[in-house]
Amino acid sequence: PEIMIVMRSGETRPVDGAEGQSVMLAARDAGIDELEGFCGGCCACASCHVYVDPAFAGRLPPIGADEDELLEGSGHRRPHSRLSCQLSMTDALAGLRLTVAPEG
Ligand code: FES
Repeated sequence: PEIMIVMRSGETRPVDGAEGQSVMLAARDAGIDELEGFCGGCCACASCHVYVDPAFAGRLPPIGADEDELLEGSGHRRPHSRLSCQLSMTDALAGLRLTVAPEG
């Protein structure tokens, strides 16, 4: 499935990942280094923070307790914040638009 990622510069880039791959890893494979993924995707760093287009919010799996807690401490949380390492590339997300959150 292909999704779109809006970088901090405002540039939009397509990301095509394998089914089941995390969005964070798929983005990195596509050369997007703004989703740093310091913790390797184990929900411990929040460097993969993204804002989900509200139109797609209902297609995502519910937020986990660890994810919720990390986002709460991240400083840039918005109503549709998610950690991209906790989202899997699935057909349900095809066309999804995510915006990279500010650093820190
Ligand atoms: Fe660390 Fe997502 S990569 S929380």
